[in-house]
Amino acid sequence: PQGLLSDTLGRPLRDLRISVTDRCNFRCSYCMPKEVFDKTYRFLPQTSLLSFEEITRLARLFVAHGVQKLRLTGGEPLLRKGLETLIGMLAELRTPDGAPLDITLTTNGSLLARKAQALKDAGLQRVTVSLDALDDAIFRQMNDVDFPVADVLAGIDAAQSVGLAPIKVNMVVRKGTNDHEIVPLARLVRDRYGPGVVLRFIEFMDVGATNGWRMDEVLPSADVVQRLGEAFPLEPLDPNAPGETAERWRYTDGGGEIGVISSVTQAFCRDCNRARLSTEGKLFLCLFASRGHDLRALLRGGAGEDQIAAVIGDIWGRRDDRYSELRGSMAADTGSGERRVEMHYIGG
Ligand code: GTP
Ligand code: 5AD
Ligand code: SF4
Ligand code: SF4
Repeated sequence: PQGLLSDTLGRPLRDLRISVTDRCNFRCSYCMPKEVFDKTYRFLPQTSLLSFEEITRLARLFVAHGVQKLRLTGGEPLLRKGLETLIGMLAELRTPDGAPLDITLTTNGSLLARKAQALKDAGLQRVTVSLDALDDAIFRQMNDVDFPVADVLAGIDAAQSVGLAPIKVNMVVRKGTNDHEIVPLARLVRDRYGPGVVLRFIEFMDVGATNGWRMDEVLPSADVVQRLGEAFPLEPLDPNAPGETAERWRYTDGGGEIGVISSVTQAFCRDCNRARLSTEGKLFLCLFASRGHDLRALLRGGAGEDQIAAVIGDIWGRRDDRYSELRGSMAADTGSGERRVEMHYIGG
């Protein structure tokens, strides 16, 4: 039966996050620390990557199983050559009801000024841009490749002017590093872009095994809302869709909305409808999983559509992941000592 998948906790499959490269031109210390991702680091070889045809073939099967939203991630997705071609192929897919998909991507914005028009023309609807600080020195230090804020802002400007909408801006908040940038960044987004751009504050998460995560660097979203509310009064909004990552708030003066993503202090696993496809074609059922299910082997081994669809259905049917809810309790430890997948590999 198509579109009726449900995992062991009754959660449907709605959202597929597709990582198109494990490479990035930034070295954010919470994701790809320079010491680990240096010249000797071995990224995936070209032959390991799913081709655009393979990605599209899998995406079509996921859509038949109920997926309505596709998000391209990385690494930095705009580093994948010819990404517009892939977007064009994905934009032709339809849900079983004949509706187009919500197609978006999460980017660090560094190449966006150059690519916004081509992405829009290919069929991309919206973008999410990561930006951790407005202060240039802090931003350069956080991306750790000395990349200037102005160029990311130029990317957001371009996205807005070609009509990629709504635009979201993601700020990962690290207490002691950039938490004093919360209000300045909010003010900039309000003043420069208005209600068309939604700024979201993300609690620093313990993804992967190399980012040196510590609980005392997490600023709880409740504190973000309080600090922001003192500068610009806020009121809560209802969710747009079940299982959403962000809790929504609006400025009472009509200046737009913001979101807080509270994976640490208020887990949102209960309705999590997200699957992740890695660059090399492994299906991960949770951002914090240690292991994926190899779909590339099926594709390249000559499996037919029905067979692959059945495997995907079977994997989802056995899913019981809810890492963020279990974090902190003993149960969060897989017990097997396996390393969790890295953020740059699975795309967040
Ligand atoms: P929208 O569709 O625009 O709401 O996007 P999104 O929030 O689903 O995706 P985005 O790539 O903007 O992710 C925002 C933040 O939420 C990032 O830090 C992600 O790593 C994190 N995130 C996304 N999905 C999950 C999830 O399923 N679990 C957890 N714990 N974090 C997630
Ligand atoms: N905690 C929270 N968010 C993170 N991101 C990357 N690493 C982390 C982390 N450790 C964010 C990126 C991007 C999104 C996909 O995930 O900044 O906005
Ligand atoms: Fe690159 Fe995004 Fe990771 Fe930063 S958080 S290193 S921009 S993939
Ligand atoms: Fe979904 Fe895993 Fe994130 Fe929970 S921790 S919301 S199950 S991806």
